[in-house]
Amino acid sequence: MTAPILIFDSGVGGLSVVGALRTRLPGAPLAYVCDNAALPYGTKPDDWLVARIVAVCRAAVAASGARALVVACNTASTLALKALRENLSIPVIGTVPAIKPAAHASRSGVFGLLATSATVSRPYTQRLIAEFAPDCTVVRLAADRLVAQAERVLTGMPWDDAVITASLAPLWEASRLDTVVLGCTHFPLLREALVRHAPRDIVWVDSGDAIARRVAQVVFPAWHDTSESDASWASAAQQAGLARTLAGYGFSAPYSLALPATVSTF
Ligand code: DGL
Repeated sequence: MTAPILIFDSGVGGLSVVGALRTRLPGAPLAYVCDNAALPYGTKPDDWLVARIVAVCRAAVAASGARALVVACNTASTLALKALRENLSIPVIGTVPAIKPAAHASRSGVFGLLATSATVSRPYTQRLIAEFAPDCTVVRLAADRLVAQAERVLTGMPWDDAVITASLAPLWEASRLDTVVLGCTHFPLLREALVRHAPRDIVWVDSGDAIARRVAQVVFPAWHDTSESDASWASAAQQAGLARTLAGYGFSAPYSLALPATVSTF
């Protein structure tokens, strides 16, 4: 059995990145874990969350034999990526609010960040805004009640219009706001409701494809992408003519094969 890519979230939110992963990595085995006994994460204290997230992910990685962990949760990623990387020996790919793409997408320079109350107030999020949207006005809006709405919708129940209206209302006070970052992986699952409740055309930006691209880089260097050459490796990658020879067989220029320092050479 091929080791899967493990997707983790507090609930069903992580499913919003599965489509992008399947598109980017056709045929790659996936596994999913949710900590639904502790849902929602967005309103819980940081110290408790870090310990919980590490414990859940360690257990799930051991159970699934995963080759990589995708933390498909902004609330967990903006808090616990470092702790996860210290505690796991496989690659950990996080999800953070798509501030940079939103800053590019917004024509007015006024955009919203819709996320859990934890994510909107985290230093990590503040740093993203300072780095990638220094000239923008970012309306940060905690919308914890939308998490339960997404959980409802995915189990086939209708969303509650009153909750959606009330959750979004503060965004529309910024008359020039033209773009909204879906900074919680649950929210793309409510896209239809969000679009219906917006008073004007809005660009909704989520992190799904960016995560999938990152996973593709980390987990399967190049070979999954049929638009590119297959990857190759060599311990002496600079050998003259080698790259061209490999190219003739559909391979990209060779990566240098990293060998442990203890491996002897002539
Ligand atoms: N889906 C999660 C996120 O991206 C969190 C939802 C929650 O448990 O509060 O932030």
